[in-house]
Amino acid sequence: MKLPFAESYKIKMVENIRKSTLEERKKWIREAYYNLFNLRAEYVFVDLLTDSGTGAMSDKQWAAMMEGDESYAGASSYLKMKAAIKDIFDFNDFLPTHQGRAAENVLFSVLVKEGDIIPGNSHFDTTKGHIEFRKATAVDCTIDEAFHPTLYHPFKGNVDLQKLEKVLQENPIEKIPFVIVTVTNNTSGGQPVSMHNIREVYKLTKKYGTRLILDSARFAENAYFIKTREDGYQHKTIKEIVKEMYSYADAMTMSSKKDAIVNMGGFIGFRERALYEEASVYNIMFEGFVTYGGMSGRDMNALVQGLYESTEFEYLQTRIHQVEYLGNKLLEYGIPILQPIGGHGIFIDAKSFLPNIPKEEFVAQTLAVELYLEGGVRGVEIGTLLADRDPKTRKNRYPKMELVRLAIPRRTYTNSHMDYVAACLKNVYDRRDKITKGLRIIREAPIMRHFTVELERAH
Ligand code: F0G
Repeated sequence: MKLPFAESYKIKMVENIRKSTLEERKKWIREAYYNLFNLRAEYVFVDLLTDSGTGAMSDKQWAAMMEGDESYAGASSYLKMKAAIKDIFDFNDFLPTHQGRAAENVLFSVLVKEGDIIPGNSHFDTTKGHIEFRKATAVDCTIDEAFHPTLYHPFKGNVDLQKLEKVLQENPIEKIPFVIVTVTNNTSGGQPVSMHNIREVYKLTKKYGTRLILDSARFAENAYFIKTREDGYQHKTIKEIVKEMYSYADAMTMSSKKDAIVNMGGFIGFRERALYEEASVYNIMFEGFVTYGGMSGRDMNALVQGLYESTEFEYLQTRIHQVEYLGNKLLEYGIPILQPIGGHGIFIDAKSFLPNIPKEEFVAQTLAVELYLEGGVRGVEIGTLLADRDPKTRKNRYPKMELVRLAIPRRTYTNSHMDYVAACLKNVYDRRDKITKGLRIIREAPIMRHFTVELERAH
């Protein structure tokens, strides 16, 4: 008999979670103004809001924490992190930050000026926020295939090289301090970018005289897809693939809360010494001294161990297998999801799921609320709320896709939880014709509104 797949770890510690009643959930979601970010976590049974900072650390990570060096300057934890970043990404210089957006803040403080243009592949919202906050423009050059929910493409996160070259050609290069490529591409569904594409983008940046920065939150998952889908990489180790990916990068920003499997942390990796020196000033102002920058020594130690674990093939196989397990269950139930299944979660096509809700009534948010009501499962809207208003016209930006993301924390839930989530969605799907009312905004913030927006049922 062929042996079935099984996880590459066993469980040493558990945390209890609690189911609730429909009546309770109705009250709680109303009190949260139909915004899942406003819910108390204890009101959630399976929390798929994000895979960020929600992973389970290993025994080795916890053990490494005990040896954290909390010295203000020159801590051994810092030196360990420096050595790991050199070893894994081959960057000589780095700055620790408290999380990914802090890395963006520090680096963009040096690089991004008013009127600049930053091309990329569907910039993550904080990345776009840090660009627009500086009165610069993020230009999305993702391939068109990414916007067709069910079209198969092995590397749907890829940059369209023609779109990118047009931007590089038509603008003064001093206005384009860098191109940013997000691996994997979170916004378009956790879709990977191929090695070929990274290499070609890098060549274009050199042809026109600018930089390539990799937004690296899920770099290891990206490497897994390169290994399993791209010709010529089957026999390379994840670490070899990562080395090659970063040989094409001039710098990296990292949210360590994802593929370094820690609860908090981030960093910037630098190829150019001068850029590191300039950024150091901002790091000291915004984050902390250059040898800790917003992280404690113990967290740096756990991060180092996490980087080594996440670049193990067996770990990645277990991880991606669980995401596929949920995705395949949903496909079996006929639920419209983005395909191919991405690296860190399932993205439900809310427009196809709820065709009766007009786009003005926040289709994906409506579905996320229904899923919570059904069984206490928390996902997140990636649709009109997240897309926010156009900074100039202040009109709602309606994105090409309305998605609900079910992000799966690393090593946290079992496949029984995945079965539970799939059953909840199936029940919502079976009653979809009865869902005819969406939501409307009562109150919103001027930027990144989705975190704090308050909504009510549309009448
Ligand atoms: N870049 C990408 C691709 C991300 O997905 C995130 C965060 C960041 C940058 C910012 O990092 O949160 O450490 O400040 N994504 C989380 C998510 C929040 O849920 O996808 P951060």
